Amino acid sequence: MISIKSAREIALMKEAGKYNQLTFREIEKHLKAGITTKEIDKITHDFIIKNGCVPSCLGYEGYPASVCISVNDEVVHGIPSKRKLKNGDIVSIDLVLAYKGYHADATRTYIIGTVSNEVADLVINTRNAFYEALKILKDGVRVKEISRVIENYAHAHGLSVVEELCGHGIGTNMHEDPDIPNFDDGNNTRLKAGMVIAIEPMLNLGKKDVYLDDDNWTIKTEDGKPSCHYENTVLITKDGYEILTGED
Ligand code: MF3
Ligand code: CO
Repeated sequence: MISIKSAREIALMKEAGKYNQLTFREIEKHLKAGITTKEIDKITHDFIIKNGCVPSCLGYEGYPASVCISVNDEVVHGIPSKRKLKNGDIVSIDLVLAYKGYHADATRTYIIGTVSNEVADLVINTRNAFYEALKILKDGVRVKEISRVIENYAHAHGLSVVEELCGHGIGTNMHEDPDIPNFDDGNNTRLKAGMVIAIEPMLNLGKKDVYLDDDNWTIKTEDGKPSCHYENTVLITKDGYEILTGED
């Protein structure tokens, strides 16, 4: 069942989205070579709590941190650790928080220092894939049309699409119906005004194949090449959409 949010719920989700954006601004102040991913987790956790929000990932199915931090060949769900960021890394920060029970989910991938043109393009094109999908997002669009736009954009730019993970509806639960895959799996469901979804392309520089690390959380690329992730929580409206977690 896909929930249609009331005006009151949408107002709360917008607030949650604002706090999610503010948290990224706080994280960005500290992001540089030498910081550990655990330090980023602590900064994130403390800022979320200070704002009266809840870090949704902490304890979710046993996840041990407040934010997912995935570096280079890590696709998603990287666990903060003593690992230090270094020049040439790309780091994706996947942040879900709740305000008055409503979740906002967004991911940004940052470049630390300098990277090859190929990796810089991966980061730009993953973000672009999200915005390509938004061009057709409005009341009545089918899930598979969104998926296909992302898939086509990725392939046109020589990137592969991770198939094991997908976007999702969001609201009082972090993950709600429907799934929003980044490849066309034939889902004919129509999205309607008042639905809120997280669209989140996860694109690989090399092959699409991924595996679960021994820590039982981190998903990594099979070929060891970098992966990138970009995500926003988006409200569907009659004529289009509204991004609740910012456009950066
Ligand atoms: N944004 C991530 C997702 O949609 C959040 C996962 S939280 C975790 O999968 F606790 F499962 F890591
Ligand atoms: Co998500």
